Amino acid sequence: MTSERTQVAIIGAGPAGLLLGQLMHRHGIEAVILEARSREYVEARIRAGVLEQGTMEVLREAGVGERMEREGLVHRGIYLCFDHVLHHIPMTELTHGRSVMIYGQTEVVKDLIEARQKAGAPLLFECEDVTVEGLEHDEPVVRYRHGGAEHELRCDIVAGCDGFHGVCRPTIPEDALTVWERGYPYAWLGILADVPPSTDELIYAYSDRGFALHSMRSLTRSRLYVQVDPDEEIAEWPDDRIWSELHQRLASDGWELAEGPILEKGITPMRSFVAAPMRYRSLMLAGDAAHIVPPTGAKGLNLAVADVTVLADALIGHLTAGSDTGLDEYSDRCLTRVWRAQHFSWFMTTMLHLDHSDDTYGRQLQRSQLRYVTTSTAAATSLAENYVGLTLEQTAPAGATP
Ligand code: FAD
Ligand code: DHB
Repeated sequence: MTSERTQVAIIGAGPAGLLLGQLMHRHGIEAVILEARSREYVEARIRAGVLEQGTMEVLREAGVGERMEREGLVHRGIYLCFDHVLHHIPMTELTHGRSVMIYGQTEVVKDLIEARQKAGAPLLFECEDVTVEGLEHDEPVVRYRHGGAEHELRCDIVAGCDGFHGVCRPTIPEDALTVWERGYPYAWLGILADVPPSTDELIYAYSDRGFALHSMRSLTRSRLYVQVDPDEEIAEWPDDRIWSELHQRLASDGWELAEGPILEKGITPMRSFVAAPMRYRSLMLAGDAAHIVPPTGAKGLNLAVADVTVLADALIGHLTAGSDTGLDEYSDRCLTRVWRAQHFSWFMTTMLHLDHSDDTYGRQLQRSQLRYVTTSTAAATSLAENYVGLTLEQTAPAGATP
């Protein structure tokens, strides 16, 4: 058994854990990142693709924005499609110049891993049986197995960045957490296709056959999604069936969808979930470890980045200036933003998906809402400012320390 000490033990090398590691490194704070999976697995996992302007700025300031600036695609609007007509929401025009960047989460993760390795800072893949102990004492201990040996890591703070299925949140006594949760009667089947996108900006489509989304990863790769039932198996979806659904659901007058070889496909379930507070003694939860949104608002990754920005400031205050204000305010600061994103994600999801158990009244409400956001500047502005992301100042809780 080896025993080591660090200032911050970070569990999980997703966007939250890796970005926190990068911010700690830039402020001269020691951290060790422990990840359950291999580097290859983490770098191959295809997930989100839309970065809010605030997320871009954080990555740039963290020194990992260079490839994103070169390869990312700036988008200034989205399309909503219903009744076979495309309606443009000019987000930048409606939000005083704000925009989003199309740059895959996979690429963000690769950039962060490379930065950490260049810095020579510790990041251990394939860690087994990670446990967090001693939260009642001043010095928590993280135990894990790596390379066939047992290890113990003593630290000041544990950052639980280990996603929804991680070990950190379940370490917190049940009576110390409040949980809010909602399930949905649908899931997303996502594909990555080797074909230039058939659109300049993302298309979110409402149709009688269910929701579809045309997104992209670059000028040569398309990312597309169709709504499916949550219990469907990917084997039931041969490529021809996926393209056929995409053609029908995305169909609009004078527009054609180009097909190409499918490189990857998978089904993702949907859930809304919040656990609060996001702190238990010296364990801080960040990202999916504390909250999940359905993907329709493109908020999951952006929320993880916002949490980590607040957490990094709190840790710098605690570890370099001996101030606990940031740690004490961390959960409330994050949760105000988390709940805004929860509402927006639920709103986009319920406006655009077909609930097969719903009556025709529900569908009339959806159509009315779609007509409203595509004809009223006030309604479109509300959608746009949530989509590009509110600033941290806009979502600061009343009375928080500036
Ligand atoms: P994660 O990315 O989940 O990272 C957590 C890390 O912790 C993982 O690397 C995991 O292997 C590791 N870990 C878990 N348990 C342990 C352990 N015991 N010990 C050590 N390490 C551990 N959002 C969108 O906005 N749009 C999308 O299209 C979209 N698609 C998604 C598809 C899928 C399949 C999933 C799961 C999520 C998707 N999301 C999407 C959400 C978005 O990707 C997440 O919100 C984002 O990844 C959150 O980052 P995170 O770092 O908090 O968590
Ligand atoms: C993508 C994912 C989303 O959840 C979304 O709302 C838009 C785009 C994507 O993976 O490209």
